Amino acid sequence: MVMNIVLCGMMGVGKSTVGIKVAELTRRRWFDTDTVIADRHGRISDIFEYYGEAHFRELEAEVIRKLSKEDELVISTGGGSMMNHENCELLKQNGKIFFLKASVETLLKRVLIDETRPLLRVNSTDERLKELLAERTPVYEHVADYVVATDDRTPDEVAEEIVSLLQKAKK
Ligand code: S3P
Repeated sequence: MVMNIVLCGMMGVGKSTVGIKVAELTRRRWFDTDTVIADRHGRISDIFEYYGEAHFRELEAEVIRKLSKEDELVISTGGGSMMNHENCELLKQNGKIFFLKASVETLLKRVLIDETRPLLRVNSTDERLKELLAERTPVYEHVADYVVATDDRTPDEVAEEIVSLLQKAKK
């Protein structure tokens, strides 16, 4: 059975960059849940600011409901999407889930405090990122079919590992 390839993990870990590369290597269509939301509803940071996080999470769940019905996609998920049990269930039913893992130091290097990362604008970035990492890592690990280390590796190397894990699973 052909399934979706789903990438999860913290913001800044490279889910979009790696997702595009995996899609190229496997000749699949690529979707990023944040991009789909932004295309339809405007900038993520504006949605957070004007309508609040709960509303954003509803939009995210709606996109995941739609994408998880399709087949043969590469789906890069937003960092918080796996905190919703329904999202995990839907993505798992029809997909192999890859958790892209990175240390807090790597994430900090990759994440800049910018307009597109509303959750990091509140407290100091380090503390907030550490809190989110501690809270989310066990969930990502639980839901994932595969954990892929990304520290000191290029997006190409990570994408190639994902493809090779999928090929091994087929044999
Ligand atoms: C979020 C991560 C963001 C985006 C939103 C919330 C999170 O996506 O969905 O800002 O809760 O971690 P990325 O993981 O692509 O940055």
